[in-house]
Amino acid sequence: MILVTGGAGFIGSNFILDWLATHDEAVVNLDALTYAGNVHNLASVKDDPRYTFVHGDIGDTQLVAGVLERHRPRAIINFAAESHVDRSIHGPEAFVQTNILGTFRLIEATRAYWGLLPEHSAFRFLHISTDEVFGTLGAADQAFSERTQYQPNSPYSASKAASDHLVRAYHHTYGLPVLTTNCSNNYGPYHFPEKLIPLVIHNALEGRALPIYGDGQQIRDWLYVRDHCSAIRRVLEAGVPGETYNIGGWNERANLDVVHTLCDILDELSPKAGGGSYRDQITFVTDRPGHDRRYAIDARKIEAELDWRPAETFESGIRKTVRWYLDNAEWVRGVASGSYRNWIEKQYA
Ligand SMILES: NC(=O)c1ccc[n+]([C@@H]2O[C@H](COP(=O)([O-])OP(=O)(O)OC[C@H]3O[C@@H](n4cnc5c(N)ncnc54)[C@H](O)[C@@H]3O)[C@@H](O)[C@H]2O)c1
Repeated sequence: MILVTGGAGFIGSNFILDWLATHDEAVVNLDALTYAGNVHNLASVKDDPRYTFVHGDIGDTQLVAGVLERHRPRAIINFAAESHVDRSIHGPEAFVQTNILGTFRLIEATRAYWGLLPEHSAFRFLHISTDEVFGTLGAADQAFSERTQYQPNSPYSASKAASDHLVRAYHHTYGLPVLTTNCSNNYGPYHFPEKLIPLVIHNALEGRALPIYGDGQQIRDWLYVRDHCSAIRRVLEAGVPGETYNIGGWNERANLDVVHTLCDILDELSPKAGGGSYRDQITFVTDRPGHDRRYAIDARKIEAELDWRPAETFESGIRKTVRWYLDNAEWVRGVASGSYRNWIEKQYA
């Protein structure tokens, strides 16, 4: 049995779907169902006897202790977080609450549980983090490695950096067998349409403007979400406790190039009724304050030590993603209209 937190979000739900498709082992999903949590993502496994959903907050010490006691997981994978940089600029408190205090309470409850386990060296706490903790790179800088100094620039990345430090300290102070992964930008199915790639696909098809921050030359390193999930499984299986692993697919792209690629694939797969290109909908808007210029992951450690490689290139992954959004228009409409909340209430009332 493994415990996944934040499993109703974008990466967590892809992780659970892949896990249940490839493992016999059961999964408990602990999720507070914030605006970003959508149990509809997991509708296909809802009745699977290996899947259990618990509605709750990682910062609720009593609830977490009860979940650990009842389900006795051999590993915890902590995806739960406030994850959107723009939201952290407008309202940082929720980020401090969940990403820092929530992670602290979760790991503290984990320490108590782990201390009583008979097989406690086999236990793992895998903390999912981001490359944004490293700050920003100039055009000529080398990619972020595991030895790069933390220099978080947004309230989001600062709160994730704080949680990474807490997790690291629990290994050094108490010997808790923790692993941390720092991954680049993900994209793929079930991505909430506040983030660049799903937002562009959604707005393009709705005939709306495609907003680009500043000059669109901010560089991100993109990884297909299922490749991130396969890397997490590999780290869980073979990672050395106390170590951190950077995860990325060597796919640096400027935001404007990503949007052009999306428009071109949409032009091909779903041409505009009146003719013309989706590129005509691009509009440039005022840049995000403190917008990091470039992120890039040096993934040599996980490749060399754990023999992990992504299955998708940017070109194959982005095409799959556009196809998924075209084939799942109902999911996108439901999320965009907020109607999945009614569905949740009915299922989990
Ligand atoms: N999306 C990316 O590109 C990316 C890249 C690298 C790392 N990460 C990290 O991966 C993790 C998952 O990211 P995501 O994009 O799937 O995020 P998401 O916002 O889509 O999902 C977050 C999930 O956590 C749940 N949650 C939030 N607060 C909670 C709390 N207090 N208790 C329990 N559940 C709570 C939400 O309901 C939601 O289901 C995060 O830790 C994020 O920092 C994301």
